[in-house]
Amino acid sequence: MPAIVLVGAQWGDEGKGKVTDMLAEGVDLVVRYQGGSNAGHTVVVDNEEYKLHLIPSGILYEDKICIIGDDVVIDPATLIKEIENLKARGVSLSNLRISGNAHLVMPYHKTLDQYEEGLKGKHKLGTTGRGIGPAYVDKMARTGLRVSDLFDREEFEGRLGHSLKYKNLILREIFKDKGFEADAICDEYFAYGQAIKQYVGDTSLIIHNALREEKIILFEGAQGTLLDVTHGTYPYVTSSHPVAGGACVGAGIGPTKIDRVLGITKAYTTRVGEGPFPTELQDEIGAHIQKKGGEFGTTTGRPRRCGWLDALLLRYSVRINGMSALAMTKLDVLDELDTIKICVGYKVGKETITEFTTDFRKLRECAPVYEEMPGWKEDTSGVKDYRDLPQGAKEYIKNIERIIKAPISIISVGPRRAQTVILRKFV
Ligand code: GDP
Ligand code: IMO
Ligand code: MG
Repeated sequence: MPAIVLVGAQWGDEGKGKVTDMLAEGVDLVVRYQGGSNAGHTVVVDNEEYKLHLIPSGILYEDKICIIGDDVVIDPATLIKEIENLKARGVSLSNLRISGNAHLVMPYHKTLDQYEEGLKGKHKLGTTGRGIGPAYVDKMARTGLRVSDLFDREEFEGRLGHSLKYKNLILREIFKDKGFEADAICDEYFAYGQAIKQYVGDTSLIIHNALREEKIILFEGAQGTLLDVTHGTYPYVTSSHPVAGGACVGAGIGPTKIDRVLGITKAYTTRVGEGPFPTELQDEIGAHIQKKGGEFGTTTGRPRRCGWLDALLLRYSVRINGMSALAMTKLDVLDELDTIKICVGYKVGKETITEFTTDFRKLRECAPVYEEMPGWKEDTSGVKDYRDLPQGAKEYIKNIERIIKAPISIISVGPRRAQTVILRKFV
């Protein structure tokens, strides 16, 4: 009964959507366990491109149960739009299940997200502006509203009224905003409730029963390890737990139920938003990777910052998540480069460190130390068998495995399902 956690190994956008969709063929359930519509997962099937924000990337198979778990924060307007868009493209939503415990992203969360970023000035995080931080703050402050509250108008109105007193005070007094009216929000959210009611249930119980029936479950993380609020590059992080441990709380299962953890990494590194990025390339190589890799955010369209693969960061990620293996995506993006570099150390002042640090001062100051190797200068986008990869690409993969001390089991050489090289069977 394998329960597998799929987790982003870097700063997000590693290609989790593609790998989840590809692996989903062999599993019974796909469970999204944290984050919200800050996530953007692009899946390409045949010549159709799907952009998913809240719905798990297994939805494109008709027979997979797809669950939005307890620790996800849901913007119901975005969710309903996503459901409608998929339906319009002929995708069945009958196997979607949504946890009643999931918190709601409210209109004031999105407004506050934007004002708070403005207030931070040069210390801004570069959030997606989707209200994610303020929604998780309310969850922890015990002033949040949950999906299950959408079916109890009296309770919803009462708690919303209380919450709005604070929010409106902040919005009107500090930000000179007009604030929000409880009645309008209630009407809007109750209509959302009716639209999603058929999907809402006890998702932890569904997962528990599936595990007892020896079903195969894939837990799909959003964002990435370095964006984790505890283990990431704080404060330049998101407000949830993308790390593999987050799957237990986020889906309502015990740690003894998890069999394997698959990390997803790009063959290089990208980051959207602010924060330190030791291997960032602000030259023509960075521009080439950005262009060839199509490195523009799925959610916000912002250009992604690009750089060399950081093996310190990756080894840290292997450790924090207890990764059993990794999938490396976007190898094809490096095909044309003359030289390829892997970061194996950080020079901080006179000292060279070889273990990753989440101390942003050190990350900001450090100079990366690289191992260099010649590029393979061959098109890999059509390769389906490991034996057909160029020797240089094989050496690149072996070098990384040696440094991070974990096996790379899957190589992705393009956005389509078939553009995948399986080295060792994972599911
Ligand atoms: P996620 O957030 O981790 O699911 O990743 P995104 O979907 O935001 O970003 C990954 C992008 O790379 C998407 O546009 C994918 O279609 C694309 N992609 C995934 N794997 C590969 C690959 O191996 N090669 C190339 N060229 N593109 C890929
Ligand atoms: P997927 O699932 C890349 C980044 C934002 C910002 C920081 C905080 O597609 O990999 P937030 O809106 O979460 O408060 O923003 O986190 N961020 C992501 N970067 N991929 C994502 O998701 C991201 N979700 C949030 O750019 O730096
Ligand atoms: Mg993404």
